[in-house]
Amino acid sequence: MTKLNSDNLQLSAAGKLKHLLNLEGLDKNFITRLLDNAENYLRPKGSLPARDYGLQGQTVANLFFEPSTRTRASFELAAKRMSADVLNLDVNMSSRIKGESILDTIFTLQAMQVDVFVVRDAGDGIPEFIARNVGTHASVLNAGEASTSHPTQGLLDMLTIRQAKGRLDGLSVTIIGDIAHSRVARSLSHGLRIMGNNDIRLVAPGGMAPDMALYPGASLYEDADTAVKDADVLVALRIQRERIEDPSGIPTEAEYNQRYGLTTDRVALAKPDAIVMHPGPMNRDVEISGKVADGPQSVVRQQVTNGLAVRMAVLSAVMESR
Ligand code: NCD
Repeated sequence: MTKLNSDNLQLSAAGKLKHLLNLEGLDKNFITRLLDNAENYLRPKGSLPARDYGLQGQTVANLFFEPSTRTRASFELAAKRMSADVLNLDVNMSSRIKGESILDTIFTLQAMQVDVFVVRDAGDGIPEFIARNVGTHASVLNAGEASTSHPTQGLLDMLTIRQAKGRLDGLSVTIIGDIAHSRVARSLSHGLRIMGNNDIRLVAPGGMAPDMALYPGASLYEDADTAVKDADVLVALRIQRERIEDPSGIPTEAEYNQRYGLTTDRVALAKPDAIVMHPGPMNRDVEISGKVADGPQSVVRQQVTNGLAVRMAVLSAVMESR
């Protein structure tokens, strides 16, 4: 039985990763090791993907109670490439919509000897709730929690930045758009704060500005051009309509594009070697122009490649906690 660290549910008493719920509880060395290990799973373009037997005999269940393309596909491929048995629960068929509680779903799967639960849910606190109640042998990986946390996205974003810039310190990183509803912005900001002394600039339309208490160390800008000026990294976010309760304040797509979109002209205000990121799904010519998304500064596809490697590294890390 793994003994947990009582101050940090994510870590075992020996400091190993038991659950991945958010980045806040991890330190710089820990994150650096995870990113280094993710690099080991990357292969040159055109060669066969990395595989290993690290999860042989283990069962990974992907429970996505919200839509997902990249995150779900990459968790599935990551688990398969590490030789796990993988179960993808189809949410539309699941008992959850028939009223079964999430814990009953978890306990049902646990009765089939699932070892790792990958969970995406619209409810704040759900991954932690499951981690507190799951059997001691099991691990919970947060694959997107409300507007709160998306730790593997934060890790893949940091890996992408580190590859391009050679460091995760002393960088100006501008995140633009619907920050208030973005778990991507939150996990990346927290991660960058842990990793170094970075200048994190947030810029959002009025109703989409975040509660800055949730973004310690970051600065809020009103004007996108000012926030983009001389930045090293630009991150575009879509309007996350599914999380917006009162749609009356949502800008039109044309307005969002004009004031907050990453257009060629706006990107030109950043450093000449700035990189452009987007977590996906992208709305071309709304938050990012097609030209920028496909242009030389875009690392959007590299983010996807890194997502798979990061998820392999996280799966490998939780095996070490056993
Ligand atoms: C993000 C998410 O789900 O939070 N997507 C992703 O995981 N790549 C961002 C988004 O939905 O806009």
